[in-house]
Amino acid sequence: MLATPTPHIKAVPGDIAETVLLPGDPLRARLVAQEMFTDARQYNEVRGILGYTGYYKGKRVSVQGTGMGIPSISIYVNELIQGYGCRKLIRVGTCGSLSAEVRLREVVLAQAACTDSSFNRIRFHHHIDFAPIADFELLLSAYNVANRMGLPVRVGNILSTDTFYAESHIDTEQWHRYGIIAVEMEAAALYTLAAKFGCQALCVLTVSDIIPTHEATSADERQNNFLKMAEIALEAAL
Ligand code: HPA
Repeated sequence: MLATPTPHIKAVPGDIAETVLLPGDPLRARLVAQEMFTDARQYNEVRGILGYTGYYKGKRVSVQGTGMGIPSISIYVNELIQGYGCRKLIRVGTCGSLSAEVRLREVVLAQAACTDSSFNRIRFHHHIDFAPIADFELLLSAYNVANRMGLPVRVGNILSTDTFYAESHIDTEQWHRYGIIAVEMEAAALYTLAAKFGCQALCVLTVSDIIPTHEATSADERQNNFLKMAEIALEAAL
């Protein structure tokens, strides 16, 4: 266990629920708390990375911003699990699709996450490639919820990249050939840390842009899609 408050989350044990939604953007954490929770209480504002606990359909839940990228989400996930006893962690975010077949606004459930990060190269001996995967129970239940809501949903392998503005030689075509459906920047770390600590984790994503064609959703659409994702995540967890 880490001593609390932890370096990046100023809360006391018991302030944070076992189930926590993880948007990258702290303002989206506030939006979930305002729009979907009752009796929401803010427990964190260190670095502006907001965290709230409240109730969804009578069940206690939290939502915590993570910032962008593997180093940032890793800090929050370590502290949530080791400092505050969180057990079910669901990232809600956006992703880029690698082909026009995976369309704008579709929901992607990340079954597994490849990465170009050295995060697991540092963790394991150099010849080992750990395979970060979603929790099957959460995955299945999110899939069923999305279908019940009538939302187009895909389940598959994704890429958690360290470079949003990649060099042109980075071969998205090759990732596509190997069946990767989408690119984001956090899932591989969330899944690895959940495995390390015996917790359940899932990433629920919506497609905000199609990388090869440069099509993208508007900010308004992203907000709408975001609340649908949060609903999938909350229903799947509870
Ligand atoms: N790359 C990485 N992360 C992303 C993207 C992308 O194109 N779109 C949304 N998150």
